[in-house]
Amino acid sequence: MPDRIDLKVLRCDGPGKPQYWQEFSIPYRPNMNVISVLQAVQRNPVTKDGKRVAPVVWDCNCLEEVCGACTMIINGRVRQACSALIDKLELPLELRPMTKFPTIRDLWVDRQRMFNSLIRVKAWVPIDGTYDLGPGPQMAEEKRALAYDLSRCMTCGCCLEACPQFTLTNQFVGAAAIQQALLFTSHPTAQMNATERIESLMGPDGLVGCGNAQNCVEVCPKELPLVESISTMQRKAIVHGVKRFLTSGRKSAAGAGPAG
Ligand code: SF4
Ligand code: SF4
Ligand code: FES
Repeated sequence: MPDRIDLKVLRCDGPGKPQYWQEFSIPYRPNMNVISVLQAVQRNPVTKDGKRVAPVVWDCNCLEEVCGACTMIINGRVRQACSALIDKLELPLELRPMTKFPTIRDLWVDRQRMFNSLIRVKAWVPIDGTYDLGPGPQMAEEKRALAYDLSRCMTCGCCLEACPQFTLTNQFVGAAAIQQALLFTSHPTAQMNATERIESLMGPDGLVGCGNAQNCVEVCPKELPLVESISTMQRKAIVHGVKRFLTSGRKSAAGAGPAG
């Protein structure tokens, strides 16, 4: 193993400010991850050529690949810094912020758009008060297993970073919110809002925005079945659209009254 870890970080001093590279070198310790490397830089923010600089800023929380906050581009691949082990990475390290979210500072980005998308698709189980509602309806094992899988999404943004259809400037909702819409549409209680969820995904920036490039599924750290989830929601949207068309046809025929 090397005595030192060399890294370069793509930095930015604030929203809208230009990005620039800075290089650091810190002593190697066994079992380090990218967060502990950044913490070493934070304790002694001196560049490789001896200049004292502002400490590097990044986001993190759980440190066990559950919150998604530490997502960044590490050696060209979008992933979580907390589960990126130095012994398994090529050195020197190259760290960049995700590019599909506005940069707040250095490696810290604003993922609010993802949370707004979850609000758009009503990704929750509505409850009427906080009293004990008793045991909910039972779910078939196959549905439960899929729901458990989908519930592991940590809103990390990897799928959106990799998606060619999701850009900084467009409004495409992206794979994560679509599969959360499926999760809550399959839930025995939350499915009472199924129609609203499907309708929230029927505009041009919803389900039709997906070009089926399948990059999302390649990068999801939780290996979620994103492409299948998108196809299932697309089928539900088609069925819903046909039903809506037939219902509106029946209503206008009834409204026209008897001929003659
Ligand atoms: S399948 Fe492709 S276009 Fe659709 S959400 Fe995934 S990466 Fe984006
Ligand atoms: S679907 Fe996967 S890649 Fe996308 S936000 Fe959820 S955990 Fe991250
Ligand atoms: S700190 Fe939560 S996923 Fe890395």
